[in-house]
Amino acid sequence: MATWRAQSEKWDNVSQAYESDVVKFTELFARDLVEAVDLSAQDRVIDLAAGTGAASLLAAGRCKNVDCNDFSNDMLSILKEKADKMGIQNISVLHADGTQLPVDDCVYEVAISNFGVIFFPDFPAGLREMYRVLVPGGRVGVCTWAPPQRVPAFNVFSGTLEKCFPGKSANKGRVDVDEPMLEAALQTSGFDDVRVLTVSYDLVMPSAQAYWDRMANGSPGSIKLLESLTSEERDTFHRAVLENLHEKFPSGDVRMPAEALLALGTKGS
Ligand SMILES: C[S@@+](CC[C@H](N)C(=O)[O-])C[C@H]1O[C@@H](n2cnc3c(N)ncnc32)[C@H](O)[C@@H]1O
Repeated sequence: MATWRAQSEKWDNVSQAYESDVVKFTELFARDLVEAVDLSAQDRVIDLAAGTGAASLLAAGRCKNVDCNDFSNDMLSILKEKADKMGIQNISVLHADGTQLPVDDCVYEVAISNFGVIFFPDFPAGLREMYRVLVPGGRVGVCTWAPPQRVPAFNVFSGTLEKCFPGKSANKGRVDVDEPMLEAALQTSGFDDVRVLTVSYDLVMPSAQAYWDRMANGSPGSIKLLESLTSEERDTFHRAVLENLHEKFPSGDVRMPAEALLALGTKGS
């Protein structure tokens, strides 16, 4: 308990920045995830590590109800506030570690996680938990980033860091997986009919500085990284990212692709 509380505070601390700078992008992928699990009006859905609601709020319009799990209270408060503003009533928040949900076995027809379960220190434990809470015949959908070389949108940040400070790397707080690894992880957790699709969108930011703000403030890993640098090192890194982007995008607008993996499966009957 103590461990996940400490981890969750780190996400609490970035929740505002996540909502203002990051979620617009994860929502693009959430749309594909929600589409791919093919929701129907009677489905009860759980969204693991729901954050500020990228997938939950889209799913709510297409199913019976959504339990929105996250271990960060601040993320869930933003989610709830958005749902209230949108008049969405068929969601509930479930504040818990996603590897130990306070939920009986076999409750949901669908379990989804958009850039969520993959951030768990023990992500297969999150997949097994999704399996446990699904009814027989239930469907799972999990979205995560493709291997780094297929995500140029993030490479400017990590690549510039490594150039400025050889040996230093950004802690992304998640494991990198490719298609076979993700497929095997779902199969090992018990899922059948596993398949992994790819989805790609451009990260579009109005300026190099907006890109920096998004990358620097939107995740606990970046915050930790920047805290590990001296203020001169931070300035050097910041300047180098801006210079790199000004060179690539002289007109100002920044646009770089990011590929994600979308894994689908079922719990056998
Ligand atoms: C990158 S965000 C994704 C949020 C959202 N699903 C989206 O697509 O924008 C990762 C989320 O995972 C949550 N998280 C990380 N570890 C968790 C755990 N063990 N249990 C529950 N939530 C967790 C964080 O609080 C954060 O909201």
